[in-house]
Amino acid sequence: MVQIEPIENSLLDTSEKNAVEKWHSLLTLQTELFLPHEICFLLQSQIWQDAISILDVGCGNGSYISHISKFFPDKFYTAIDHSSELILIAQKECAAHNLHFEQKALETFYPEKEFDLILMRLVVQHLNDFSSVLSQAKRLLKPGGKLLIIEPDLNKYHNQPATRLFDQMLNDIELQSAQKNTNRHRLSSLGMIATETREWAIAQDELTTVPFVGPFERSKLLDLYHLWIDVLDLSETLSSPLNNVREEIKNWSREPSAYSQVGIRFLMLENKYGKH
Ligand SMILES: C[S@@+](CC[C@H](N)C(=O)[O-])C[C@H]1O[C@@H](n2cnc3c(N)ncnc32)[C@H](O)[C@@H]1O
Repeated sequence: MVQIEPIENSLLDTSEKNAVEKWHSLLTLQTELFLPHEICFLLQSQIWQDAISILDVGCGNGSYISHISKFFPDKFYTAIDHSSELILIAQKECAAHNLHFEQKALETFYPEKEFDLILMRLVVQHLNDFSSVLSQAKRLLKPGGKLLIIEPDLNKYHNQPATRLFDQMLNDIELQSAQKNTNRHRLSSLGMIATETREWAIAQDELTTVPFVGPFERSKLLDLYHLWIDVLDLSETLSSPLNNVREEIKNWSREPSAYSQVGIRFLMLENKYGKH
């Protein structure tokens, strides 16, 4: 198979020290806030329970897969990421007897053995061409292997009272995704795209909504929202500066009626035939 190079994405560029630090904090906090809800899905998934060899593609700083590997210790985990800086952190802080990290991209990873299940959490949205993700996954899976995609359900995101500038920032990211042809703007169609190939079936498609009740001053949720703004600002992904968004979120966090919800979608795809 011809090797395909991963796409460059300024948002995920961790070559600068400041960017690595921000991503490290963001990924750690994101894991802490959402992990209990995700464990709840995994505990109820027979497919997850049955899988023994797991490949985590785009593992970042390793924080998420490290928690998962401790919670489900009877599996063997390989975790890869394109970013050498984040993999270094993962290797230092999270390596364990059943968890092995490698600096590799999905497109350039050629392991000795195939996997039962591939996990891609908050990664597919950054890539372009979902069909190519599917063919790479098929290459790395055993026949009948599974691909678990975890992404936000953007339709379920909601802040009260409304945060106009913050919401606009999220809309701008989606518009930019459409221009750059990354998958973020087509997250709700991933299942359909997969089944249209006739090589994949949807084994599970579940949604959970995570509610947060404010006020959020000095809360972890406020820290997370600030980190989202910081990584966007650092990467200059959006053309306008985001100081006014920071100010809006800070004021919103003090509102006694502040409420926020985030949707998480779990799409479990099954490769029907394996390699031909
Ligand atoms: C938002 S982070 C998610 C990290 C982790 N999965 C988590 O949930 O905490 C996306 C990660 O995907 C990695 N990535 C992007 N494209 C990749 C590719 N083609 N192959 C491997 N990793 C990739 C980035 O380097 C980044 O660390």
